[in-house]
Amino acid sequence: MNHFLDIHKTDATDLRAMIDQAGAMKQARLGRPKAALDDEQALKDRMVALIFEKPSTRTRVSFDVGVRQMGGQTMVLSGKDMQLGHGETIADTARVLSRYVDMIMIRTFDETILTEMAEYSDVPVINGLTDRTHPCQIMADVLTFEEHRGPIAGKKVVWTGDGNNVCASFLHAAGQFGFDLTFTGPAQLDPEEEFMGLARQKGSKIVIERDPHKAVEGADLVVADTWVSMHDSQSAKERRHNMLRPYQVNTELMSHAKPDALFMHCLPAHREEEATSEVMDGPNSVIFDEAENRLHAQKAVMRWCLGV
Ligand code: CP
Ligand code: NVA
Repeated sequence: MNHFLDIHKTDATDLRAMIDQAGAMKQARLGRPKAALDDEQALKDRMVALIFEKPSTRTRVSFDVGVRQMGGQTMVLSGKDMQLGHGETIADTARVLSRYVDMIMIRTFDETILTEMAEYSDVPVINGLTDRTHPCQIMADVLTFEEHRGPIAGKKVVWTGDGNNVCASFLHAAGQFGFDLTFTGPAQLDPEEEFMGLARQKGSKIVIERDPHKAVEGADLVVADTWVSMHDSQSAKERRHNMLRPYQVNTELMSHAKPDALFMHCLPAHREEEATSEVMDGPNSVIFDEAENRLHAQKAVMRWCLGV
């Protein structure tokens, strides 16, 4: 039994196999006939609990569809409607759910909720986003990059703005998939030292560059995310916007990257804030492929978790 808690906690060979299997499952479905699909029965008779303590569109729908495509069933649970949200411990919740379901996906706040769930669960637990990381997103993003530009190893990724949970999983992926990452944003919002160190230990070049124009020079991929995440206090919104405005991804900034540099955003986006519509809807943007690839990448993650 495998938990999928974070990219840096997962074997690099297994990660590569998941990306390749995700791509193959996607192609098989595009090509049909249906008889050629090897994934239809993978989760037959399996029940998957999808727990959300924060809002979601992509994670919720892509996991639900992914399980159904593989012949399984889902149960979407809202954290606040569960006893979990009313004082029952995470450990007890994990032990009870393990008696009913075959796998648990949870989107939550503090990462200790995820790790405690995994510790006490007898079934695989998948991280559907915490305040600190968002590994499923980056599995989809690696798949998306490689579909458009071939192997991501050795490429230069530039993260703009807030060094948040999605940025953290990009750093983990840099180490595991062998690409370099430059962070450009204000010093107050730098990514965690620990995560940068992990990527450097694995040989990735991790750079902090305050000047966004310099940062994107030679970039193969430029990434943006919301300036205020779900776990951030709304009262900090104006201050963060003021700090982050110079890091907006617009056509002028993209003109300093490689001409074929891709643009990514995990969505949901605040158009004309962290990125302009001109970039988001422009020829180098792959934002909707990323969203689609959540489905394919997570199907491979779930198969890995269950060994099916
Ligand atoms: N990118 C992402 O995780 O989107 P949702 O918040 O809609 O799930
Ligand atoms: N950084 C964002 C990602 C949303 C998918 C958040 O945590 O709100």
